Amino acid sequence: MSWTHYTLRITAIAERRPLTKLRSHHVQAHVGVRPISSAVHFYQNRQLELYASKKAQRLTLRQLVFFGRSLDEERMIKGANYVRTELPVRIAHRLRDLQALPYVVVTQEGVAKVYELYWSAFEKFRRYPQINTLAENDAFCQFLRGLLNEHAVVIPNLSLGLSLSSPYLAPERLDAFMRRMLVSRISRRVLAEHHIALSQDAKEIREGRHFSDDHVGIIQTGLNVKECIDRCTTYLRCRPPDVDGDVAEGGSGADWSEVVIDGHLDTKFAYIREHLEYIVFELLKNSFRATRLKHPNVSQLPPIGATIVSGNNHVTIRISDQGGGLMMPQIKSPSDLFSFSHLRNATRLEDARLGALRTVSSRKQGVRATVDEQIDTWQRPSEARRAENGTNQGGSPSPLPRIGIGLPMSNIFANYFGGSLELISMDGYGTDVYLRLPRLGTNLEGIEV
Ligand code: COI
Repeated sequence: MSWTHYTLRITAIAERRPLTKLRSHHVQAHVGVRPISSAVHFYQNRQLELYASKKAQRLTLRQLVFFGRSLDEERMIKGANYVRTELPVRIAHRLRDLQALPYVVVTQEGVAKVYELYWSAFEKFRRYPQINTLAENDAFCQFLRGLLNEHAVVIPNLSLGLSLSSPYLAPERLDAFMRRMLVSRISRRVLAEHHIALSQDAKEIREGRHFSDDHVGIIQTGLNVKECIDRCTTYLRCRPPDVDGDVAEGGSGADWSEVVIDGHLDTKFAYIREHLEYIVFELLKNSFRATRLKHPNVSQLPPIGATIVSGNNHVTIRISDQGGGLMMPQIKSPSDLFSFSHLRNATRLEDARLGALRTVSSRKQGVRATVDEQIDTWQRPSEARRAENGTNQGGSPSPLPRIGIGLPMSNIFANYFGGSLELISMDGYGTDVYLRLPRLGTNLEGIEV
């Protein structure tokens, strides 16, 4: 990228103006009409370069657990300063990635918004003073919570922007870029949320009211896999997937398949519950929907099977449905469902999907974060729900919007600590999905952080 183009982008963010309006100012700055502004931009670029040149300090799940095993003041402060200095490095890498995109992509609806959010977060972290006391750590946690909320809109915006950019980027480049953005985002949220949760644990320990030892920060040390599947099933039966009006929306649960769980039912391992539930929820949602559509006129739908296998190195979950398989005219291979490119997955540019993405991107709360948060939302009084999300006239929840992020995100969540997600389509009959997650927690976070 040319230096001119690069500086323009930085200027656009710093001065909160659209790129197109900056050309003449930029030229003026370069010929010396605005020397002060030019110096500021030069300084900002230097800072970004400085941070982007540092390597991310990648962690394993086990390290995250061990760090949280003893939570004295010194460790909490050390942890806070690690998060304070590590997050801007990870954000700087992604800002550089965004800057390397063609101009036509950066200016797409959604991408510019994400760039702005990242630039602003980078500046805030960079300027955040060193943390020396527990009171300062409390303030830092508050600061992190604010950013986590503010960034809830990142995924739908990015997904919308990259779908719209699909005609301008080769599929390999588009998918590699999206992957780096999403892995890195998961990593930053894990660090921020883990630190907030550990700070909360430490506070409860100091005040003598910490009674639960089933978790360390955001990691459940004995996560019960069957319970996660049950929770996702329960939630889906209250708020089933959208079936494009083919069957009644917001069914009572009787219209949807049973989920029959077998295998090693007492499997427990150390993992982040929200990550596992995100994946299981998306897989079950797809199976519910496919089975309903494949068998439109039967009163009792074929069940969905969930088999749990607890191996020495991995926990495997297989989800099997009789929803007809993944064969679609737009998809040549099941792995194309993980792609953001319309050349691999033509549904990316469908109007209905773009419309749903636009709606979700403009909502304050963005896309759902955890199954827990959704359950909370739907348990709140119906007036509040209607105001937040929009429901059917009768007050029952509107069906889950289909924005096409669930499968690619599930794949990235699975890969994050070295696991895998494999889709096997038995065309005309059903789909088997194999989710494998490492149980020892010794793999480093994905390289793209
Ligand atoms: C994100 O959610 O995209 C983040 O980068 C979160 C971080 C700023 C705490």
